[in-house]
Amino acid sequence: MKIIEVQDEQAGGKVGFDIFKEALANDAQVFGLATGSTPISIYNELTASDLDFSDKISINLDEYQGLAGTHDQSYRYFMDEHLFNQKPFKESYVPNGLAEDMDAETTRYDRLIADHPLDLQLLGLGQNGHIGFNEPGTPFDIQTHVVDLTPSTIAANARFFASEDDVPRRAISMGIGSIMKSKKILLVAYGENKAQAIAAMVEGPVTTDVPASVLQNHDDVTIIVDRSAASKIK
Ligand code: F6R
Repeated sequence: MKIIEVQDEQAGGKVGFDIFKEALANDAQVFGLATGSTPISIYNELTASDLDFSDKISINLDEYQGLAGTHDQSYRYFMDEHLFNQKPFKESYVPNGLAEDMDAETTRYDRLIADHPLDLQLLGLGQNGHIGFNEPGTPFDIQTHVVDLTPSTIAANARFFASEDDVPRRAISMGIGSIMKSKKILLVAYGENKAQAIAAMVEGPVTTDVPASVLQNHDDVTIIVDRSAASKIK
């Protein structure tokens, strides 16, 4: 794991941008993308740039079950707002949170990922060590699946909703098995509330209790952290 410590999120955005730029220069075709507050500074750098993704493919990690893509807290909406409206890709996939048949939806998503192998996967990190919505206890070889969000994730995401009751209880997530097949992985984390998960991910045992610890088994992972997020690494 290559760890890059940055001053703040703005600086992290620039470092992340450079990694996207380098991936493009190396002919990356498929970009795995994340939502949440962490990637926003990278997306800001991308939208302000002249990089061209119009013949590239993006595949997002996850989506809340039960939210339409037009809902302002859906991850489809987030991606349109923060990236795709300004920086269109040829095709941009996000799981369909309104799919009536969730088994068919997860199968469709896995086929998509198989047809478009990921070149670069961008990840945020949950305070409980989740990546995507692969919560603690999730098997490392799992494919796309429907997840019952943990109370800690629901509480962490309540800040985006009017109240905690409005946070969807389930989500569809790309599996750890697919994330690990990405050629390159970029994980970003900022702030004191990620410090424990960062230390466990980097130095702890590889265990399903800390889903992100599986990244120790990948040979091309870059981690961008600010000083607070790095503060519990020994
Ligand atoms: C989002 C995702 C989640 C977030 C994580 C951190 O698509 O898959 O794993 O990356 O919950 O969220 P933030 O960045 O809001 O702290």
